[in-house]
Amino acid sequence: MTIKLNGKEITVAPGEMLIEAARRAGIDIPSLCYAKDARHKSSCMICAVKDCRTGQILPSCATVPAEGMEVDAECPEVIQTRTLSLELLLSDHRADCEAPCRVACPGNFDVAMMNRLNEQGMHVEALELMRNTLVIPATLCYICNAPCEKICRKGTVGTPVAIREVKKRLVAQTDLNAIVRPAPNGQKAAVEGSGPASLSAAYHLCKQGFEVSIFEKDSAVLKNYIEAEKVPEDILQLEIEVIRRMGVNMQCGKAQMPDPSDFDLVVSPQTKSKQPARMVLEGYRMVTKNTESTESTDKPFNSTFSRFNDSEKKSLLAQGGSSGCLYCDCAGKAGCRLRRLATEYHIKNPRYAKNSISEALHRQKIKDGLWFEPAKCIKCGLCVYNSDDGFTFKDRGFKMKITLPEENSANIDARLADLCPTGAIYKINA
Ligand code: SF4
Ligand code: SF4
Ligand code: SF4
Ligand code: FES
Repeated sequence: MTIKLNGKEITVAPGEMLIEAARRAGIDIPSLCYAKDARHKSSCMICAVKDCRTGQILPSCATVPAEGMEVDAECPEVIQTRTLSLELLLSDHRADCEAPCRVACPGNFDVAMMNRLNEQGMHVEALELMRNTLVIPATLCYICNAPCEKICRKGTVGTPVAIREVKKRLVAQTDLNAIVRPAPNGQKAAVEGSGPASLSAAYHLCKQGFEVSIFEKDSAVLKNYIEAEKVPEDILQLEIEVIRRMGVNMQCGKAQMPDPSDFDLVVSPQTKSKQPARMVLEGYRMVTKNTESTESTDKPFNSTFSRFNDSEKKSLLAQGGSSGCLYCDCAGKAGCRLRRLATEYHIKNPRYAKNSISEALHRQKIKDGLWFEPAKCIKCGLCVYNSDDGFTFKDRGFKMKITLPEENSANIDARLADLCPTGAIYKINA
């Protein structure tokens, strides 16, 4: 059978749903409550298309095409329907994609991940995460006014996480002898200056395999750029030594940059910011193609909710590992289609007020490494229809929710995490 989609003829195999025929023809209609070969019932309307003859908006995941049908999958009405559906789904979504501490950090540092690694005893990995983002993490702790700690959600139910103290303790565990020089790429780079941005650029070029030299006018690295009296000398020296051992050659007291023709790459960081963590981030961006920028034009959508309510406060007070961290970021974000679509459809501030009955950060352990967070569920039902004696619907209407009775946990297969279109069911090693 042939039909017309976006003005072009496409073929439809017998019994094939419209969404699959379109995808086979290279037109990627989005979906949330539908997954190929899984049992589903259409509910989200993200796969909306327009029947050009009747003007009707149809869910393509539940439409069996008829001969001669003409469908539009990109007209303004379709985009409007999908956008509205996303906004409605997000109005019932009490969750943060990124933890507020990371959003507030001028260096975009993943504090929650550091805390996770630290509390699992993975100190080397936590240190590496810090260095790869902040380059001079402990030094920054003394000169940054720590917006991360001011905004920390734990602060609204108890004492905020002492993020800077965690970082300083981790840096104190540095094993200088374990630092490995990255494999060389055969190219040389010169970096002007030794401020936070220059050190960051040098560090990341070094990681890319360049033989890097820093040329600094002053007699010592960093001194001219930060309020050095605030940073203990041993900390400063330790962090500079780490960069040196990575292979960065530091030439101080050089009034002039060397001849650029002696290098494959010359970097002169000019930063707009005076905030040291921000300068580090800018240095990184100068020498890498950063796709996860917090300010790029395709900045990922970030779901967030305002404050904990009283019942959340009660249950969260007791939570948190030794650092007290609540791990506010979404552990299932890597596979979240809801976030990806909200980004693609440019949802900034959903038009509808948050109206969720679910508790933020309430996490149910299904089994080792598999978790369920009801506040991130869009009630698509995929987990219900595709587990036997597993997830179930509870209540009706606005109060309807998805639950997993504890005795059913054993029946849950980890593959449901891949089927779930959001971060509500996720795999994590913690
Ligand atoms: S489930 Fe998706 S949209 Fe919700 S917080 Fe997680 S990443 Fe963000
Ligand atoms: S509780 Fe943890 S993840 Fe949440 S804002 Fe504080 S440090 Fe960040
Ligand atoms: S938990 Fe189940 S109902 Fe909720 S979004 Fe995931 S698959 Fe859909
Ligand atoms: S209604 Fe088709 S994907 Fe949800």
